[in-house]
Amino acid sequence: MNTLLQNLTENFKAAFKECGYDEKYGKVTLSNRPDLCEYQCNGAMAAAKEYKKAPIMIANDVVAKLEKSKCFKKIEAVNPGFINFDLSMSFLSDYVNEMKEDKDNLGCEKNENPSKIIIDYGGANVAKPLHVGHLRSAVIGESIKRILKFLGNDTVGDVHLGDWGLQMGLIITELKERKPELVYFDSNYEGEYPKEAPFTISELEEIYPYANAKSKEDEEFKEKARQATFELQNGNKGYYALWQHIINVSVTDLKKNYDNLNVEFELWKKESDAQKYIPDMVNYMKENNYTRVSEGALVVDVKEDTDKKEMPPCMILKSNGATLYNTTDLATIVERMEMFSPDHIIYVVDKRQELYFEQVFRCAKKTKLVNDDTRLTFIGFGTMNGKDGKPFKTRDGGVMRLENLIKEINNAVYNKIMENREVSEEEAREIAGVVGLSALKYGDLSNQASKDYIFDIERFTSFEGNTGPYILYTIVRIKSILNKYLENNSLENSEIVLEESETVKALLLEISKFNEVIYNAAEELAPHKICSYVYDLSNVFNRFYHETKILGEENESVKANYIKLLSLTKDILEKSIYLLGFDAPERM
Ligand code: ARG
Repeated sequence: MNTLLQNLTENFKAAFKECGYDEKYGKVTLSNRPDLCEYQCNGAMAAAKEYKKAPIMIANDVVAKLEKSKCFKKIEAVNPGFINFDLSMSFLSDYVNEMKEDKDNLGCEKNENPSKIIIDYGGANVAKPLHVGHLRSAVIGESIKRILKFLGNDTVGDVHLGDWGLQMGLIITELKERKPELVYFDSNYEGEYPKEAPFTISELEEIYPYANAKSKEDEEFKEKARQATFELQNGNKGYYALWQHIINVSVTDLKKNYDNLNVEFELWKKESDAQKYIPDMVNYMKENNYTRVSEGALVVDVKEDTDKKEMPPCMILKSNGATLYNTTDLATIVERMEMFSPDHIIYVVDKRQELYFEQVFRCAKKTKLVNDDTRLTFIGFGTMNGKDGKPFKTRDGGVMRLENLIKEINNAVYNKIMENREVSEEEAREIAGVVGLSALKYGDLSNQASKDYIFDIERFTSFEGNTGPYILYTIVRIKSILNKYLENNSLENSEIVLEESETVKALLLEISKFNEVIYNAAEELAPHKICSYVYDLSNVFNRFYHETKILGEENESVKANYIKLLSLTKDILEKSIYLLGFDAPERM
């Protein structure tokens, strides 16, 4: 289904053409003066130059053509040459009813040529607890994936776990110091390694920060860790078995955490999975003369003539032959091309890695690891800061674990619910979980991803203002009206037919924008556009609600039509928050 703007633009194009002007001037936009009109077309101004006529004359010609159309309630040419107009109720209602008919997609058309899209998000590191830095990737990536999928694309989310760095050597080395008797450290051991891991997740999470801190002070320890990393990557069987335990224990825990966030990955690939592609890839790059040696290291130049900023070469192998984060990412591209031949790979990563990804993308294109038309997109997100404007920390200055952050936010919501309402503690806990997640995700997604934002529990959990809980509150309000109505009636399937009033019209106008918003959010990979939309829609709905007796309406037919309008509003709000990655409770 076309967007409303497309439909209007079609009408205007035809009118421009009939008046003897190029149809390209018929572009319609939302009014930037909502006090004057709902929509506008500024094409006459541009056409004036081509036709050497006063813009107002052209606008008058076009208006004369459109005046009689049933689409408009009012249409006028305004000096110096704007065409301002309001839609007729019948035209607007027809459009909204067509959306309503399209129950599953609400007017959003599926991509005719679905793209295969891999979204690389999450990026958690094995054996390190998930912290707030990983929150943004998970939240933004999940939403982008849901939006693209909703529009019919074939999406694959990959968590791309970090499991291949020095952190592994650090843990192994520290374990060895603590429990040298473990079979994993016995180089003569020939038997099978135990199935049970020699540590729990809590122990693992204690070991890593401890070993990491130690390595900063103790160069000898760090060297041992480097050596252990090297041996792990080069076939030490005991280390390899330990490493698998680390991954298993860690992945079980990560799954639980991502689950709590309503974030689900189709693929649980790890950096280590790409390692086997490296030797062939490096040979291929060498053979095709893409590489050169610079101070012993193997590099690919990725600088372009038009570059204004510094663009260092992409390093493939260090002078000692070791591979780097780059090498792994390039090999992962090889792996992905082989497994999925995607049309598009989207990376949702901290924006501080932007230059790095620019190098990787250029290198992948230059060396033809991807096709010329394979899109590689980096979505860099800003930092989540505390109220002091510095990266978010715990009260005592430590790194905030995601789990604890979620607990804090849920507690804040729980207290609010218990203050206001009389529900059982158990139900309040359950509702707090659902509402808390909306607070967390909406607080993040309502900002443009690239911007830093301030994590403010008080504001995010407020039931008023531009927050997740406010949106949920609106949905719950609608649900409760619908439920009351449905006790004695059923929901009619017929079209919505309502007399014009300011608030009804405003609500219909807002509803009619849904597909436009979703297409834009998908095009720009920008979930924040959906946030502004649900906020506007909720505001317009609540205005309507406050000015209208819905269940108290005496005319049963009018009441039934209000109910249909409510039900559609709810469907759109629920679809939107699904695309943002959260749900509404039944009550709150
Ligand atoms: N594990 C990395 C980190 O914590 C993020 C990985 C992002 N994705 C990628 N393909 N490099 O910084």
